[in-house]
Amino acid sequence: MSNITSGEFEILSDLVYRKTGIRFESKKLYFITKRIEKRMDALGLEKVSDYLRILRFTDTNNQEFQQLTDLLTINETYFFRDFPQMQVFAEHCLPAVVEKKAKEGTRSLKIWSAGCSTGEEPYTLGIIISEMIDDIADWDIRIIAGDIDTKALEKARLAIYENRSIRDVPPEYLSGYFKKISECYKVNEQIRKMVQFEHINLSDKNEIRQKRDFDFIFCRNLLIYFDDISRKRLVDQFYVALNPGGYIFLGSSESIGRISTAFRLKKIGGHIVYYKGG
Ligand SMILES: C[S@@+](CC[C@H](N)C(=O)[O-])C[C@H]1O[C@@H](n2cnc3c(N)ncnc32)[C@H](O)[C@@H]1O
Repeated sequence: MSNITSGEFEILSDLVYRKTGIRFESKKLYFITKRIEKRMDALGLEKVSDYLRILRFTDTNNQEFQQLTDLLTINETYFFRDFPQMQVFAEHCLPAVVEKKAKEGTRSLKIWSAGCSTGEEPYTLGIIISEMIDDIADWDIRIIAGDIDTKALEKARLAIYENRSIRDVPPEYLSGYFKKISECYKVNEQIRKMVQFEHINLSDKNEIRQKRDFDFIFCRNLLIYFDDISRKRLVDQFYVALNPGGYIFLGSSESIGRISTAFRLKKIGGHIVYYKGG
C-alpha cells in the first residue's frame, strides 16, 4: 500500500472529527494507516487518495464511513468498570432518585448509556437496578444504550461475553444474572429486556436534541477521544437531556468542572458526583 501523506492524514482526521467528534492527533498515524489498509484491501484499492475520494465524494449514504468508524473506535469495556463509582450510583444516587419519583407517583426510570460499546455498561446498570429496587416489577425501567459502532452494537445485542468482560462481576451476580454457555456467559433475559440498543452518534446534534427526560446519563471513557469543543457541546446537550435532579457520570479521568459550570456537585464518600439542580 502507498504510505499516507501528512496532507492525506489531515484530510482524513478532519473528516473523522467532523462526523464523530473523535480527534486523532498525528501520533496516531500508524493506528489510522493500519485501519485504512484494511478497508482499502476490502475495496481492492491501491492508493490512499482513491480511498479518500470515495469517503469524500461518493459515500453518500455513509456506508463506507461507517465501516471505517467501526475499525477506528476503541471499545475497551467490562462489567462493573470503575466499581467504586458504580457503588456510589447504587447506594446513593439511585435510591435518592427512586425515592423522589416514588413520592411523586412516577414509577419510571430512564437511563442513557452513551457510548455503550459492546453492552457491558448498560447491562451492569440493569443488574444494579434489579438488585437495588425491591418492587422493580412496579417500575418502568428503560436503559437506552447507544454507540456509533455498529459491530459493537451487534455484539451488545447478543449479550454473550468471555471471561475478560466478566472478571469484576461479583460471583453471586454471575450466578444470578448470567447463563454459562460453554466458555462464555450470556446475560439473562430479565436484564436484556431492560436495555434497548440504538445507533447513536453523539456528534450528531439533531439526534441528540431528541433525547430527553433522563434520570441518569453515563458517558464514561468516551470524552477522552473528543477535543474540548466537542466535549463541551456534548455535555451541554446532556444537561438539557437530564431531568432536574438527574445525575451524570463520566469516566474517572474526565472532569466535568473543566467543561461545564451548569451542573451542581455533591461529595459522597470521597467521590464527587454531578447532577442537574431543580
Ligand atoms: C472506551 S469505550 C467506553 C465504553 C463504556 N462506556 C465504558 O466506560 O466501559 C468508548 C465507546 O465510545 C464510542 N464512541 C466514540 N465516539 C462516539 C460517538 N461520536 N457517538 C457514539 N459513540 C461513540 C466508541 O465506539 C466506543 O464504543
